[in-house]
Amino acid sequence: STSSTEDTKTDTGSGDLITVGFSQVGAESDWRTANTESMKSTFSEENGYELIFDDAQQKQENQIAAIRNFIQQEVDYIVLAPVTETGWDTVLQEAKDAGVPVIIVDRMVNVSDDSLYTAWVGSNFELEGKKAAAWLYAYLQAAGKGEEPVNIVDIQGTIGASAQIGRTAGLEAAVSEHSNWTLLAKVSGEFTQAKGQEVMESLLKQYGDQIDVVYCENDNEAFGAIDAIEAAGYKVGADGDMIVMSFDSTNAGLTETLNGKIICNTECNPLHGPRVQEIIQTLEKGETVNKQEYVDEGIFSFDGAVSVISVDGAEYPVTKVTKEVIESR
Ligand code: AHR
Repeated sequence: STSSTEDTKTDTGSGDLITVGFSQVGAESDWRTANTESMKSTFSEENGYELIFDDAQQKQENQIAAIRNFIQQEVDYIVLAPVTETGWDTVLQEAKDAGVPVIIVDRMVNVSDDSLYTAWVGSNFELEGKKAAAWLYAYLQAAGKGEEPVNIVDIQGTIGASAQIGRTAGLEAAVSEHSNWTLLAKVSGEFTQAKGQEVMESLLKQYGDQIDVVYCENDNEAFGAIDAIEAAGYKVGADGDMIVMSFDSTNAGLTETLNGKIICNTECNPLHGPRVQEIIQTLEKGETVNKQEYVDEGIFSFDGAVSVISVDGAEYPVTKVTKEVIESR
């Protein structure tokens, strides 16, 4: 795995700095880059921290090795952004036995004993998926196409990651509710632009213009899918051959929403640094923290045709993307 220069804990006279070992998934997407930046700028020396950062290049074995290194280096806290949900029991037990609190961020872990981690903060990924599907339903209704057949392809994220599990589940629930919706295929684009493009190319070879909706599970996959669709001679957008939906609402993603290529973009907020810091500061005071905390997230669309959506009895406003909206984020 690749690590920053702070890789090895040295006695630099760091005084009262709190040492945090952060095992990051990788650098697969713009969202991830923003997340890393949020963590690095929060856990700086001037804020009272020594950060040991490890990039696992999307491999769980690298994350497990990083956690074992952090334990050996006797860090004060371990922060883990897990690539997938399962497979953490052994290493988290090791951290617990060593007395190092573990804070999970972004995606979840699925462990047999919840005391293996101290707290989790991240997104409600299934709600994100349900919101996207509710938007699609409302959009088709508003366009007078609510009763027409709708063929969907799902370019999934990394299989087994909470972000994939939740977003796929949200779509599948809607497909089973609407008898005119068909899920033609679901295939992983691994949350990257290159893979998103590659899988879209093969989906187009297989299904061509039968495809009405391309449900991409993050912005980078959507960028790749759009390139593939246009290279195959199709037009993306409300007045085109197929529409592309996405998640994350990164600046680049919202720019594609503004120009109508990503018709709807459901937010996934990457700015977890200050949230994790708040958890650590609360623990430092000897106080208890919430075991699990979801962050609030919005949903954006290219036009104002749908201004509110309803999911499980709750209403969520839809924001029409403008230049000002993008600049204000
Ligand atoms: O877990 C969050 C997801 O991971 C984001 O949607 C995606 O862009 C990232 O790679």
